[in-house]
Amino acid sequence: MRSSHLRLATLAAGIVFSCASLAQIKIGLILPMTGPVASTGKQIDAAVKLYMSQHGSSVAGKTIEVILKDDGGVPDNTKRLAQELIVNDKVAFIAGFGITPAALAAAPLATQAKVPMIVMAAGTSIITERSPYIVRTSFTLGQSAVVMADWAAKNGIKKVATMVVDFAPGADSQSSFKEAFTKAGGQVIAELKVPVANPDFAPFLQRARDAAPDAIYVFVLSGQGATFAKQFAERGLDKSGIKLIGPGDFSDDDLLAGMGDAVLGAVTAHQYSAAHPSAANKAYVAAFKKMHNGLRPNFMSVGGYDGMHLIYEALKKTKGETDGDALVLAMRGMQWESPRGPISIDPATRDIVQNIYVRRIEKVGGELYNVEFATFEAVKDPVKEAAKNK
Ligand code: PHB
Repeated sequence: MRSSHLRLATLAAGIVFSCASLAQIKIGLILPMTGPVASTGKQIDAAVKLYMSQHGSSVAGKTIEVILKDDGGVPDNTKRLAQELIVNDKVAFIAGFGITPAALAAAPLATQAKVPMIVMAAGTSIITERSPYIVRTSFTLGQSAVVMADWAAKNGIKKVATMVVDFAPGADSQSSFKEAFTKAGGQVIAELKVPVANPDFAPFLQRARDAAPDAIYVFVLSGQGATFAKQFAERGLDKSGIKLIGPGDFSDDDLLAGMGDAVLGAVTAHQYSAAHPSAANKAYVAAFKKMHNGLRPNFMSVGGYDGMHLIYEALKKTKGETDGDALVLAMRGMQWESPRGPISIDPATRDIVQNIYVRRIEKVGGELYNVEFATFEAVKDPVKEAAKNK
């Protein structure tokens, strides 16, 4: 009798204990781990793993579990996976989203389920307006475009040919650049759009060259930079006297070391460089490389790392409560030091506010890097700012 009581008590204690250890918060991380933009998925997954190894896997007394799903960069998959994660796994957050169409496909589900959706990669301006539950830790294409336009106009560049991938972020990059550059007295003399799937840049580079601009403004997707650089060199564009400028997507940190000297001297405007000289970034790059076989982190990785920071800090503020409205409220206005520099979440738009750096591709210790030489502080998405002032 006694011993069976004891056994029951032990069993009951065991049940209580296991319930407590089940207090769990799940994050559905949807990324392109395969397909043409798999490098984005790999970088973000690696950064999420690094963040959790440094900050632990519990917050506000609850265990954090990340459920990684591969959408291959196909929006129909993104939508199905987001639905499954919300309905079956009961995730408290959906996060990731390697490309704009993937983010747009998931947005209505975040609204319906009142689940915060952290956009860690995609950069088209409109995304954050598609759901009040979206918060972005990546970037917008307008942020880099306006800074690039300002630098070009002030540095003797009068005529530019733009060459972008024919895709929503390409359209944003091109229109923001053109508007800012024209306003500053410059002229866009050719606007070229390269098909996004299996891009062949060569014929477009030829057309850009034929237009005889002072500079070519190039936007390709993260992951396409090596192909672009090869075709740029093969066409002899590096010896043409035409400057290479653009956002930092073509001079992606994880591909840059293999690009060769043809891109030396190119000037880009962007939010992250692995060569950013802060202590926080030096520690980040060293830890990232150590954990991931020497892989150099790129700008997509910091979107993932900061996205995890945003989730952890929001949970601390809500004391582990997972109500979607409370979490988004906690995220609005949050500011912190990222490996890229100081960043914040605009309380009005839920979009990222960050420094944009002007950088030149240089050799440092025998390896190519984006070396920052000018800083534009706390840049907001110019597309939303312009709409506000209308
Ligand atoms: C996007 O789809 O929004 C996107 C993808 C890759 C980039 C930039 C933007 O490098």
